[in-house]
Amino acid sequence: MQTDIFHNEHRYGDMASWRTEALALHASGPIHRVESASHPPFWGVIGHDEVMMIERHPELFTNEPEAVLITNQSLEERDALGAQIRTLIHMDAPDHTKYRKLTNEWFKPAGVKRMQSRLDELSAEAVATMRAANGEIDFNQQVAVRYPLQVILSILGLPTDDYPRMLKLTQELFGSTDPDLQREAATPEERAQVVFDFYNYFTELTMARRENPTDDLASLIANGKIDGEPMPDLETMGYYVIIATAGHDTTAASMSEGMLRLAENPDQFARLKADPSLIPNAVEEMIRLSSPVRHFMRTAVEDTEVGGQPVAKGDWLMLNYAAANLDPKQFDNPLSFDIGRSNADRHIAFGFGTHFCLGAQLARLELRSLFTHLIANIDTLEPAGDATTSKAVFVSGHKSVPLRFTMTSAGDI
Ligand code: HEM
Repeated sequence: MQTDIFHNEHRYGDMASWRTEALALHASGPIHRVESASHPPFWGVIGHDEVMMIERHPELFTNEPEAVLITNQSLEERDALGAQIRTLIHMDAPDHTKYRKLTNEWFKPAGVKRMQSRLDELSAEAVATMRAANGEIDFNQQVAVRYPLQVILSILGLPTDDYPRMLKLTQELFGSTDPDLQREAATPEERAQVVFDFYNYFTELTMARRENPTDDLASLIANGKIDGEPMPDLETMGYYVIIATAGHDTTAASMSEGMLRLAENPDQFARLKADPSLIPNAVEEMIRLSSPVRHFMRTAVEDTEVGGQPVAKGDWLMLNYAAANLDPKQFDNPLSFDIGRSNADRHIAFGFGTHFCLGAQLARLELRSLFTHLIANIDTLEPAGDATTSKAVFVSGHKSVPLRFTMTSAGDI
C-alpha cells in the first residue's frame, strides 16, 4: 500500500489521484505505519471513528510537542532558530483552555452574526468581479483568495489597504513547501524573516489597540489577560498569527473546491439553483471534499490502542482529516459530490473536540453568503481548463480554478 500520500507534498498536488488512493487505503484499515527517510516515523490515522476517538481524548493524545508534520531537516532548523510562535494549536490544557476562552464567545454563532452585513457586501463584490470578467475567470485568484482575507482584515479591524502585505505573509507561512509560493532561494533565515515581518506588524497593532481599544478582535487579543496578567508577547503574536493564517487559505480552498465541483457537476448546479435552501448542506459537502487542513499531529502520552492497533507511549499520530472524510464506513460513495447528502455535516474537516476549529461558524457563514449570491447571479458554469493545487502536506488547496460562465441579466440579490 502507498503510504506516501501521507507525507509526500507532491501527492497533495494531484488530489484526484490522492483521493483514489486514500479510498483504497481504507480497505486495509483505519491506521497505517508510515516510515520515510525525511520524517520521523508516525501512524497515519484515516478512519473517521478513530480520528474522532483520538480527538475525544486530549488527555491521552496531546498536541505538544509537535502538532504538524515536520521534516527531519525542519526539526534541525527550528532547534537552531529557537521557538518563534506559540498558538492555540500548539497548546494542551490547562493553557489551551485559558487562551481559547479569550475569544471563544466572539466566534460563537451569535458573535459572528455581527459580520453578516460585511460578508454580504463581499459576496456582492464577488458577483461584480464575475460580471466584470466577461465570461472567463480564475475563480481562485480573483474571488476565493481575496474574500476570506478581507474578512480577516475586517474582524481584526485592519484597513483594506493592508491586503497585499497580509496576503504575502499568510501564503508564505502556510504554503511554503510549494515552490510557486516560496520566496526565491528561501534560506532558513529568510523563512524566519516571514515570521519576523508578522511580529513587527502585529506589535504595532497591539500597541495601538492598548492605547485606543475598540470593539474589534485585535483589541480583545491586545488587552487579553491570562490568570489576571497581560498575555505574554509570544502568545499574543501566536494569537494573531493563527487568526490571520488559519482562516485564509482554508476558507479560500473550500470556496474554490465548491465552485469547481458545481462547474464539473451541472446536475448539482441546476439542483442548487432550483432550490437555494440546499445551500447550507451544499456548503458542508464542499468543505468535506476540500478538507484543506489535511492533517494535525498528536503524541500518545501512554501505551494505548487505536482501531485495534497497539500504539506506544511517545508515538506520533497523524489525524488525516482529508482521508477520514472519505471513509466509506461513514459516507456512501465518498468521492462523489452530492449537495443533498444526508450526513454531509458529519465531516471532520474542522476537527473535533477541544481544538475544534475556532472559526468554523465564521467560515460556514462566509461560504453560505458567497454561494447564495453566486447561485442567484450565475446562469451557466463550466470548467475552462485544468485546476491546479498547491503541493503542501499541511494546508493546501487550489492555486487556480479556470471557469467559463454566463451571468443572469439581472441578479436576484
Ligand atoms: C473551511 C475553512 C476552515 C477549515 C477547514 C478549518 C479547519 C481547522 C482544523 C482541522 C482545525 C484543528 C481542529 C482540531 O485539532 O481538532 C482548526 C483549528 C483552528 N481554526 Fe480553523 N478552519 C477553517 C477556517 C477557520 C477560520 C475562518 C478561522 C478564524 C478566522 C479559523 C481559526 C482556527 C483556530 C484559531 C484554530 C485553533 C483552535 C484550537 O486549537 O483551539 N479557522 N481549523
